[in-house]
Amino acid sequence: MVRKCLFPVAGYGTRFLPATKAMPKEMLPVVNKPLVQYGVEEASEAGMKFMGFITGRGKRAIADHFDISYELENEIRGSSKEGLILPIRKLMEENDFAYTRQNEMKGLGHAVQCGQYLMGDEPFGMILADDLCVADEGDIGVMAQMAQIHEKYGCSVVAVQEVPEDNIHKYGVIAGEEIEPGVFRVNNMVEKPAKEDAPSNLAIIGRYILTPDIFAKIEETGAGINGEIQITDALLKQAQEGNVIAYKFRGRRFDCGSIEGFVEATNYVYENIFKKA
Ligand code: G1P
Repeated sequence: MVRKCLFPVAGYGTRFLPATKAMPKEMLPVVNKPLVQYGVEEASEAGMKFMGFITGRGKRAIADHFDISYELENEIRGSSKEGLILPIRKLMEENDFAYTRQNEMKGLGHAVQCGQYLMGDEPFGMILADDLCVADEGDIGVMAQMAQIHEKYGCSVVAVQEVPEDNIHKYGVIAGEEIEPGVFRVNNMVEKPAKEDAPSNLAIIGRYILTPDIFAKIEETGAGINGEIQITDALLKQAQEGNVIAYKFRGRRFDCGSIEGFVEATNYVYENIFKKA
């Protein structure tokens, strides 16, 4: 059982400036809900009830979002607006939230390392909130699917999807042997390869389950591409021991780290979720 989920949320979100000048990018709303809340709901659905956030300067709005807002709640009590706040109150009741800061931006691997004391010595999920995943109608979410894969194989799991070769340089890319339909035993991983160097067209998206030996692997991992400590490089060390599964998930994923993906997500959620609710 994976009980915890890590949310690295320290990044600057420069692609959304000026919107992200004083507001965390994870608080950008897709229709009426901040990106990070979609991530927390997905983790909670997967049975992960302890949310650990790796935050940074300027990210206090995230902690405030998952806290009681007495004045506001008092103001709307008994009004028609109260219903809008109930889902997040429920999320707060059912889950625990903890925060620690990454005070230097040294890469995603470094962010994970900052979460060692929050996650402890057990497997944990990790969600990059700017990848928004929406389940197919009637299906479970991507993290819940991955928890099942982890349960079966007992090792780290990364979610992958096929991307066009002109976009492959934006991602961590895997190669592996398909051991059941859509499930690969990973034998190679490269962070942000040039398209000629990509080992496949299977890109990692922001959903992971990591076994706790990842912390020792990160410790051994030097700076990689862009001078940053890359989680992909640390995962490669687990993969070389046969301990990483890549999983082609069901559902849709939107790259909300880009303006185009964010607008696409907004339109999709508005038409398919918000209007139907
Ligand atoms: C990170 C990871 C990369 C992964 C991507 C998914 O990159 O380093 O391996 O493919 O997230 O969104 P970033 O988008 O933070 O540059």
